[in-house]
Amino acid sequence: MTLKAKQEIEQAEVIIGYKTYVKLIQKIIKKDVEVFSGNMGQEVDRAKKAIQEALENKQVVVISSGDSGVYGMAGVVLEAAARQKVKVPIEVVPGVTAATAAAATLGAPLVGDFAVISLSDILTPWSLIERRLRAAAESDFGIVLYNPQSKGRKKPLAQAHKILLEYRDPKTHVGIVKNAKRQGEKATFTSLKNMLNFEIDMTTVLVIGNSKTYKVNGSLVTPRGYNFKE
Ligand SMILES: C[S@@+](CC[C@H](N)C(=O)[O-])C[C@H]1O[C@@H](n2cnc3c(N)ncnc32)[C@H](O)[C@@H]1O
Repeated sequence: MTLKAKQEIEQAEVIIGYKTYVKLIQKIIKKDVEVFSGNMGQEVDRAKKAIQEALENKQVVVISSGDSGVYGMAGVVLEAAARQKVKVPIEVVPGVTAATAAAATLGAPLVGDFAVISLSDILTPWSLIERRLRAAAESDFGIVLYNPQSKGRKKPLAQAHKILLEYRDPKTHVGIVKNAKRQGEKATFTSLKNMLNFEIDMTTVLVIGNSKTYKVNGSLVTPRGYNFKE
């Protein structure tokens, strides 16, 4: 979380969010704040509720995890307001996305160009996800995989793994981070070949290094190319 996000939450009169995320900020929610928490899949309802409350001149905060502009609520709130043709002031407050939080835990694997790809095919067709995976793998981007797999959705990660191995060395460094910068954080250092042999769930991101990424003193580093004159 950024300081600005914390300040906004502390000044909110109404807080709206997915119940799991609301729980994560419970400690900093002030007394007397109206809290509306809902389930996954009710994002449009939450956006509409936020607009309705804001139209009553209340200071409303809509919560996402990480950064609300990365697979988060920022887009749906702006779209809902535009569709309803209402003019409430909306500010998108930046947060710390899982990619950079996880990268910090692993060291500095994303210092060069990188791509962020969600493996969730609920809102994006698999054909498009596959095209993006191939493009990123072929172009030697560092790659961060979001929404990697859940109990009922294991196929996309297995398919992504196969695709990545078509373009990249099996020894490519991979970091798996669960609960990055949260309680219960767990980081695993492995290779592209072996990455499926570890616990991977919906609170996890996978950071796949580029061809230059290496491990030094327990951390992953992707060099930018600086010249160390020894
Ligand atoms: C719907 S996306 C939301 C991303 C979020 N807006 C962000 O900027 O990090 C949910 C996915 O983000 C990843 N994620 C979010 N927070 C995480 C964390 N603290 N540690 C590891 N992965 C996380 C997981 O891959 C999860 O399945």
